[in-house]
Amino acid sequence: IINKKQKLYEIHLDSARYFFNALFQNKNKGYEYFKRRGLNDKTIKYFGLGYAYDNWDNLTKYLLSKGYKESELMESGLILEKKNKNGYIDRFRDRIIFPIFDVRGKVIGFGGRVLGDLIPKYLNSPETLIFNKRYNLYGLNFAKKYIQDETLIIVEGYMDVISLFQFGIKNVVASLGTALTKEQGKLIKRYANKVIMAYDSDEAGTKATLKGMNILKEVGLDVKILKFDEAKDPDEYIRKKGVNLFKKYLNQSVSLVQFKIDILKKDYNLDNAQEKVDFTKKVSKILKEIKSPIELEHYIKKISKETGISVNAIGSEVYGKYYNPRQFNQNETR
Ligand code: UTP
Ligand code: MN
Ligand code: MN
Ligand code: MN
Ligand code: MN
Repeated sequence: IINKKQKLYEIHLDSARYFFNALFQNKNKGYEYFKRRGLNDKTIKYFGLGYAYDNWDNLTKYLLSKGYKESELMESGLILEKKNKNGYIDRFRDRIIFPIFDVRGKVIGFGGRVLGDLIPKYLNSPETLIFNKRYNLYGLNFAKKYIQDETLIIVEGYMDVISLFQFGIKNVVASLGTALTKEQGKLIKRYANKVIMAYDSDEAGTKATLKGMNILKEVGLDVKILKFDEAKDPDEYIRKKGVNLFKKYLNQSVSLVQFKIDILKKDYNLDNAQEKVDFTKKVSKILKEIKSPIELEHYIKKISKETGISVNAIGSEVYGKYYNPRQFNQNETR
């Protein structure tokens, strides 16, 4: 098994070099694509970005010529058997290539994006002996050197990681398209104590945030959420608004409770009396999760201000019995 894994690492490294050279030496449409998306040469080299030719079996032929066996290449997931079983083709064709590294920096898989709007937009390596998606985070090999204030930022996509990195925000990883796993959470915990989730602003991104944040909390991380309405993802945001505004937003990222309240608020018109009541009742359910009395008081006051409903009434709704804020102050209760 160790030998098999070793072979797979070699195949991946050779393939990464092949894809990179195809992009960088030929400056073809793959290179043009990355340029159009704002990446400079330094970034392209740093992340080892590449291009898979618009051809059936360029890589297959190259790897066979290097002496790898067909069976080894099949295990790498980089080649596919033809339907009629008389030969092999490349898995990645006419796509720009993102090598995926493990935390030590070894290439363990690839993501490939179409240059246009074809579906699927991204194609990833299958699970292999060396590539287990649930145990890896894209970019962690780079980001681990730049973790500031114990904080790691988690984004959805390859382009988000790379774009933020180019703008100097380097403590970023992506969850590889899958829903965040417990294993990924544990991996993060080895390098950071705090995380900021900055997923896409669409519905899928919001759902993934709600799921992911619970997992991150469970492994003991302090979780904050960054949400933007002005762009669909961090890459687009930082290009549109600039790095300074992005950093400002980063500092304003919100707690899990606030994130849930903000989502809820979108469904209610607080100028309408009945909707205001319904909203406040629903918020009270969210507030029940808060364990810290200080944090709880903070949110009760905030909601009270926003709705005009008294602190006492909201507190009572949260506790399910009559609430007197003074009961927290021992000297005053007598
Ligand atoms: P997005 O569709 O948000 O990708 O998916 P993106 O990075 O913003 O793409 P661009 O900006 O259009 O290039 C987020 C991530 O989900 C995974 C990829 O890892 C992608 O980066 N994904 C997405 C897939 O694996 N397959 C897909 O078909 C789409
Ligand atoms: Mn998305
Ligand atoms: Mn998208
Ligand atoms: Mn994007
Ligand atoms: Mn996106």
